[in-house]
Amino acid sequence: MSHADDHQGTRRDFLYYATAGAGVVVTGAAVWPLVNQMNPSADVLALASIRVDVGAVDPGTQITVLWQGKPVFIRARTEDEIADARAVDLSELPDAEANNENLGNNVPATDENRALSEDGQWLVQMGVCTHLGCVPLGEAGDFGGWFCPCHGSHYDKAGRIRKGPAPRNLPIPVASFVDETTIQLG
Ligand code: FES
Repeated sequence: MSHADDHQGTRRDFLYYATAGAGVVVTGAAVWPLVNQMNPSADVLALASIRVDVGAVDPGTQITVLWQGKPVFIRARTEDEIADARAVDLSELPDAEANNENLGNNVPATDENRALSEDGQWLVQMGVCTHLGCVPLGEAGDFGGWFCPCHGSHYDKAGRIRKGPAPRNLPIPVASFVDETTIQLG
């Protein structure tokens, strides 16, 4: 679905968010009550890691989970998406850094440095626009990745900013596979 062309900053976007939010936080909903029940202090919550079962996430789809109060996009990319993301000339990127917490600073923003798995299928990133913090829409925008309707930032299929006011690529949190179908955040 593309909101890039017809976006006018209207109520429609808000409704889209609300609907999407209710629908996709399935995995998060399974985890959140456990964390919430324990009523952890802010310190503990800030450190908490969660495990997400991605066994039912098919290529070409994504889920959004809530972690530390923020949305995290977990996408299973198709071969075509991976190929497109890897074909990008790095000189075209406004933010040349991978912005990947797993790799540290001063790492180039290649697709390989942003994908979680070596084959490139899994992309895990914070669902928070690096401009002013809105939640971007998936499968949208001029580069087929994510589009933030708040002020028109376009991210590509690796979550790299390509156009608009956002200064950074979507941040990649600490994440790892703990088994074939489970990703740990934090
Ligand atoms: S918050 Fe995303 S473009 Fe401004």
